[in-house]
Amino acid sequence: MKEWSIKSWRNFPIKQQPIYKDEETLQKVESELKSYPPLVFAGEAKSLKERLASATEGNGFLLQGGDCAESFSEFNAINIRDTFKVILQMSVILTYAGQCPVIKVGRLAGQFAKPRSSDTETINGVTLPSYRGDNINSIDFSEESREPNPRRILRSYHQSAATLNLLRAFAQGGFADLAKVQKWNLDFIETQSQERYKQISDRINETLAFMNACGINSITTPQLRETEFYTSHEALLLHYEEALTRKDSLSGEWYDCSAHMLWIGERTRGLNEAHIEFLRGVKNPLGVKIGPNATKEELLGMAHILNPNNEAGRLNFIVRMGADNIKDKFPKLLREVKQEGCKILWSIDPMHGNTIKASNGYKTRPFNAILDEVNAFFDIHEAEGTYAGGIHLEMTGQDVTECVGGSQQITDNDLSCRYHTHCDPRLNATQALELAFLISDKLKKSKK
Ligand code: PEP
Ligand code: CO
Repeated sequence: MKEWSIKSWRNFPIKQQPIYKDEETLQKVESELKSYPPLVFAGEAKSLKERLASATEGNGFLLQGGDCAESFSEFNAINIRDTFKVILQMSVILTYAGQCPVIKVGRLAGQFAKPRSSDTETINGVTLPSYRGDNINSIDFSEESREPNPRRILRSYHQSAATLNLLRAFAQGGFADLAKVQKWNLDFIETQSQERYKQISDRINETLAFMNACGINSITTPQLRETEFYTSHEALLLHYEEALTRKDSLSGEWYDCSAHMLWIGERTRGLNEAHIEFLRGVKNPLGVKIGPNATKEELLGMAHILNPNNEAGRLNFIVRMGADNIKDKFPKLLREVKQEGCKILWSIDPMHGNTIKASNGYKTRPFNAILDEVNAFFDIHEAEGTYAGGIHLEMTGQDVTECVGGSQQITDNDLSCRYHTHCDPRLNATQALELAFLISDKLKKSKK
């Protein structure tokens, strides 16, 4: 393999990139970004890798979730806080059931660029470039809006910095104190999940009171008062990723400091393509999406290129085959990867293989199909004697109507009520909690 540099990806074929007409501005933006502070630092990415290594060995569970696409217009404290709250609540539910640490990773503070199935979009006979995420162009349907504008990259950097700042404050400033477990509840969550959550939080409060009587509390044990929260996004726009990649002064290793964890999407994971080339050289924990057509050669090839030392915690395969395909295709692949002894953290993205068009044209995902794929994922791991180690969700803390089904029984007709996503349909807070309870039953069983 040729030598890696932060620029070597530029010599490889690349997919899903914008074509910038204004090359000069792009270069200016890149050099400006290079001079900016990194968003995360190497030590944090290393800690995450250690947590993921434990999860790979069966002691931990990865919970990764957030928007399909962050946007400039939906950027506010309420949205960030409520997504954070639901992730905390889900993590309490899963920790309680699995009796193992839950590693919380947001699809946040950098999740802007989107791969698209078509380069163009046609409305009423007018064809324009597709929307590719707010860091590239605007969702408005006009020629000017859809033109990729490099300056948007800087705005997404600043938005990510502000988002991360608030997340760090929430995680470490007292908001995530376990004694406040009941306060993370959101008013609009439907009663059945509220009730079940209350049962767990009452028991946690009882345990905390007991521990306090024994002299253990958030003053003696700061872990009770703080939480670790990490960020991640799809490393799609490599101009951005390259500009935020820095050499760690302690180890001399390269880290992509735009987020703690980066993943490669289903459409850009070609073994001889730019995204694999770029990410093989940085030391962050990595994810790769695995769709229904993935082959043994591709999986082993990625394990070899991205994780040559077979280090636990480095590589996470995020399976997203769809409820039907997973049953046919996943068992054999899993067996083949296991046979080679590759250390992989397996997680399930039950969103992207279950997207359909509703009768009224809205893109949606049926809650039952999501659940079905998650269940199949756990069952397949159980049958193969491997560990189902994580879940990857598109979700929000808001009460949106984007996925059909669930206990609120959202129908096709309800979709238009509160359909706010800039890209794919997300689970709302109620659906996310409901799913966490259903997963918790599986996780409890898998730990026995
Ligand atoms: C995504 O996670 O938003 C995405 C585009 O996923 P995939 O690459 O699995 O299609
Ligand atoms: Co998506």
